[in-house]
Amino acid sequence: MHLHLSTRQEIESYLLRSQGILIPIGSTEQHGPNGLIGTDSICPTAIASHAALQADLLVGPTLTLGTAQFNLKFPGTISLRPSTLMRVVEDYVQSLASQGFQRFYFLNGHGGNLAPVRAAFQEIYMQHSLRVQESLSPRCRLRSWWELPETNTLRQSLYAEREGAHATPSEVAMAQYAFPEHIKDVSLGAWHPVSLEYLRNHAGDDHFDATDHRRRHPDGRIGSDPSLANPVDGQRLLETAAAELLQDYRAFLAEE
Ligand code: NI
Repeated sequence: MHLHLSTRQEIESYLLRSQGILIPIGSTEQHGPNGLIGTDSICPTAIASHAALQADLLVGPTLTLGTAQFNLKFPGTISLRPSTLMRVVEDYVQSLASQGFQRFYFLNGHGGNLAPVRAAFQEIYMQHSLRVQESLSPRCRLRSWWELPETNTLRQSLYAEREGAHATPSEVAMAQYAFPEHIKDVSLGAWHPVSLEYLRNHAGDDHFDATDHRRRHPDGRIGSDPSLANPVDGQRLLETAAAELLQDYRAFLAEE
């Protein structure tokens, strides 16, 4: 069930059955020579939609813009400031919380969203914690699809060190499965691995500015080899992630 394809009466009766909502969140940014600019939004949206086919759960509108300032020197990238994303997340949650929603599960497709979205959660909790009278705060979770354990094992087993950190074969493969008519037939240059030290220093997309970023990664990949991507892998990854997501979402709803 998708919020934007429902009527207000349908949401009213959904709220009698569940107070949870699943929200895909991504980014609109370059994804290397053969990756779609919408990859980070396409992946969590496709995973959440697949999970929603198998269970009575509500999927909210995808947040397609994230924080990606480091990719702004690549045309097509649109970035929110971290402070803007925080406000968007707070307003999204508080709008629905005011109507009775209580559990907000964000399925994330972009590392750069981790810090601002978690900071937004803390802002929301802070408003409740400061109140003299006890009030029930909405609860939020942020999970990136690649941290789901079986999905993570699968992508490592398919691509090992060629998975890399950005424009990864696993995300490109899922987008290929979701949009086969948009598979790009382009030849990629040689694979350039990045060091463990680089990955540690820039974890969670903690990159420097956009000029520096384009100079370091001229074709937009970070240590990945997305020439390995194919829609068959994409289907396996998507179905594995959707099954794990369903379990993880249900556990979140059931938490004390
Ligand atoms: Ni991505």
